[in-house]
Order: sequence, then C-alpha cells, then structure tokens
Amino acid sequence: MSQIDIQTESHPQQQQQEEEYDDEEFSGPMPISKLEGNGITPGDIKKLMEAGYHTVESIAYTPKKALLQVKGISENKGDKLLAAAAQFVPMGFTTATDFHKRRSELICLTTGSKQLDTLLGGGIETGSITEVFGEFRTGKSQLCHTLAVTCQLPIDMGGGEGKCLYIDTEGTFRPIRLVSIARRYGLNEEDALDNVAYARAYNADHQLQLLTQAAQMMTESRFSLLIVDSIMALYRTDYSGRGELSARQMHVAKYMRALQRLADEFGIAVVITNQVVAQVDGGMSFNPDPKKPIGGNILAHASTTRLSLKKGRGEQRICKIYDSPCLPESECVFAIYEDGIADPREEGDD
Ligand SMILES: Nc1ncnc2c1ncn2[C@@H]1O[C@H](COP(=O)(O)OP(=O)(O)O)[C@@H](O)[C@H]1O
Ligand SMILES: [Mg+2]
Repeated sequence: MSQIDIQTESHPQQQQQEEEYDDEEFSGPMPISKLEGNGITPGDIKKLMEAGYHTVESIAYTPKKALLQVKGISENKGDKLLAAAAQFVPMGFTTATDFHKRRSELICLTTGSKQLDTLLGGGIETGSITEVFGEFRTGKSQLCHTLAVTCQLPIDMGGGEGKCLYIDTEGTFRPIRLVSIARRYGLNEEDALDNVAYARAYNADHQLQLLTQAAQMMTESRFSLLIVDSIMALYRTDYSGRGELSARQMHVAKYMRALQRLADEFGIAVVITNQVVAQVDGGMSFNPDPKKPIGGNILAHASTTRLSLKKGRGEQRICKIYDSPCLPESECVFAIYEDGIADPREEGDD
C-alpha cells in the first residue's frame, strides 16, 4: 500500500507495481461507474452519485427501498443495479477459516499508548465503529487528536496510511495539538495538518449531510479514519423532551447506519465520542459506576466496541472495555501529555 498521496513521490514503475499488488490483494472500493451498461445509463450513475453513492459496495450494501428513493431509479433499474453490484461484491457465505484470515489482516490504529493498544487487541480496529464515552475532561477529544495523526503513519508503525476526516460538534478541535503529536512521530507538521479534513457540524441534519460529502472525499483519496466528536451533542440541543425522542432516535439510527456503511465501504476506522449522564436507579442498588452513555439502545447496538474513560491521578486516565464482540471486560491506565496519548511516564522520564 502506498503512502498518502500528498507525501508520495514514488517512481512511476514502482507505483504501477503497487497498484497491481493492490488489485490482487486488497481490492479497495470500486467506483460506481463499473455498474454502467445493461440498462444503467451514465445519467443514472450521475444521479446516484449526487445521492451519495460513489462505490459498487455502497450499492451492494443498500436495501432496494433506499435505492428507489433516488430520482430516476425505477423498480427495474433498482433490481439491475443490485444484481450487477452483487457480481463484484462477495455477499454470500464464507468459511470461518477465510473469515479468520481476512480479520487477521485487519489494520489497527495505534492510540499512542502501548498498554491501551494491547487492551484493545492491537488498537482501534478499522472497518468498525468504536465509541469512547466518559465525563468531561476524561480525554475523549485528546484521544481523537492523537488518532488523527497516528492514522497517517505507515502500517508497520501502527498507522493506516490514510487521511483523517474530523467532524467536530462541540467546537473543541485544536490543530495546534496535532502539531505536537506529529512531532513526536517524526511527521512533517504541515503534511500532518493537511491530511486532516475538518468540519464543524452545526445541527443534526448538517452532521448527517457531512457524511455524504465524506463518501465523496473518500473515493478521491485514501482515508483511514473518521472521527465524530461528539456524536450526541447536537441531538441533545435539536431534540428536546420525550415527545421528540422517537424522531431523535430514528435520526440517530440513520446516522449510525451511514457511519457503518462508510466503515464497510472504505475499510476505515470510525471513532465516535459520547457524553454520559447519571443513571437513574433510585439509589437503591449498589452501583459503583453510576454514569452511563447517552443515545439509548440504538447507539449501543450500532457501536461495535464501547470504551469507558475515567479520570485517574494527575494526567492519568483509565480505559475500560465496556462492550466488545471479542474482548473481555478489562481495563488499563494511559496518560494525556503535550505530545498526545501515551503510556504513563515516570516523573522525570522525559
Ligand atoms: N497540551 C496538553 N498537554 C497535556 N494535557 C493536555 C493538553 N491539552 C489538554 N490536556 C488535558 O486533556 C484533558 C481534557 O481532555 P479532553 O480530551 O478535552 O476531554 P473530553 O473527554 O472532555 O473530550 C484535560 O485534563 C487537560 O489537562
Ligand atoms: Mg471533548
């Protein structure tokens, strides 16, 4: 896999070899134009792209009902599109052996802390959604800033050799933090900043629209990480009270599906942060950890891995696996420093 295009100046012949290798080994997302022909016109392709579908995978993974909502896509064309897409994208059964092999090739992004990476079984997994929740000042945004840099590193350094897309709903993104983190990893500071595409989201609808733009950008260059910091903040202000709860949850569900689709289609890691609220249990039961993440079951089910952050001593923080399909409920200590998330350092260590 080649480096991020901004930094790459490889020899043309070498590039050719790499591309061939890419095609054989990890076939990346296929452009939707591959589906043209057999009744599907260039005009149809254009309309699908305007609706946010840019790859063959995006068609293959979409329910027919959703395709039919695109202007000009009839029942007949919808069937043809799905049949054509299914020829390119494997959608049937596979053996556990093959699946195991594919999973062992999954790239994980380093968090900056070896202990935290180990806890996570290698780091933040690509192809799925990781939710990080905790109280104010527990290091959620600091972790996001660190990952925005480490995702750019070569794979053998724990990176994903891709850019980062950063959606900020709370206005806490600070590019200056990226500079000191980039220095730690020996990255060119300007390149490191250029490789982060940043957008401030102003309301829940806008937050969703940004994902359509994200899909477009991901077809144009290689991204390895999408961050949403934080996922629920705008929902809390845009929807109020019980009366709007079901509308809110429907929107959240749609949002999470769009995130998962990007993770599937582009093989990126998706990291979302979340706020917590006091758990109401009347104080009757013994509850050592009374704060729970917001967003209800919809968010809980859509996040593959859920991590809980707590404050420790000084710059130290504790991360606990709250829910994971394959990791036990264990925890570890990491720390927040000027140069990002790291293992706790002894005083006078640096
Ligand atoms: N440049 C820095 N160097 C060291 N620690 C920092 C730096 N910037 C912020 N922090 C620490 O990060 C913590 C805030 O973490 P943050 O990720 O913003 O929390 P939240 O969970 O609310 O997103 C604060 O305790 C602060 O001391
Ligand atoms: Mg924050």
